[in-house]
Amino acid sequence: MTSYKTEDPKTIQALFDSIAKQYERTNAILSFNLHKRWNQLLVKEVLRNCENSCPKVFLDLCCGTGAIAFELLKDTSLKNVKAYLLDFSKQMLECAKMKANTFDLKLHEIKYLQADAQHIPIARDSVDCATIAYGIRNVQDPKKCLDETFRVLKKGGTFGILELTEPQNAYLKVGHSIYLRKVLPWLGKLLTSNKEAYQYLCGSIQTFIKPKSLIELMDATGFKEIRSISLLGGTATLLITRKPL
Ligand SMILES: C[S@@+](CC[C@H](N)C(=O)[O-])C[C@H]1O[C@@H](n2cnc3c(N)ncnc32)[C@H](O)[C@@H]1O
Repeated sequence: MTSYKTEDPKTIQALFDSIAKQYERTNAILSFNLHKRWNQLLVKEVLRNCENSCPKVFLDLCCGTGAIAFELLKDTSLKNVKAYLLDFSKQMLECAKMKANTFDLKLHEIKYLQADAQHIPIARDSVDCATIAYGIRNVQDPKKCLDETFRVLKKGGTFGILELTEPQNAYLKVGHSIYLRKVLPWLGKLLTSNKEAYQYLCGSIQTFIKPKSLIELMDATGFKEIRSISLLGGTATLLITRKPL
């Protein structure tokens, strides 16, 4: 039986490789499809933060099967975007490539990068807009990922983080905890035969730093104008920020 308690990147990479093929279907069932609305909001808010200047270079970190990137590229007001889809799971990237074929993306250029979000293989000051959805809590050192994102963003560039978090309300917190510890791993096992993977993923929501600490880390990295949007009582949090000019 595999244990995913460690945060060693190789173990996490293997975990995502193992669930890649069923990831989207499982995600839809486990989140009651709420993630789709949250993803749309992330894309809407980052584009709004770009102040009507259409991003020409976009980076989606921990892209998985490409949900965020394709949501953004579907926006018909965007033309000739160079989109980097970065993930360290080969299987997730393979799924993203297959999914790309189902969209009309010929106006854009897509580059798939199998890499660690703590070491982004992109030149400094070259990206207009970056996102990371449901990824940062799996990264071994989130500060390194923030530093790297800051490095590759152009001055004035936008960064959006979407992450699952713990609700603040005491009653909601109890229900949420029961769902994460009891229901979700069991459902995960039913849908993917990989209970341990879902146990790890649920546990990481509870052990990851609180949004307030993440905001402090972002501020310490140099990000400014950090806006926090709490979703469904804090079950998820959206953070939008900018690299100063
Ligand atoms: C929960 S999935 C989210 C995928 C996608 N962003 C979405 O919205 O569906 C997390 C993804 O982060 C990737 N990941 C985790 N840690 C990473 C790291 N250090 N570097 C690159 N990718 C990482 C995993 O392989 C996985 O595809």
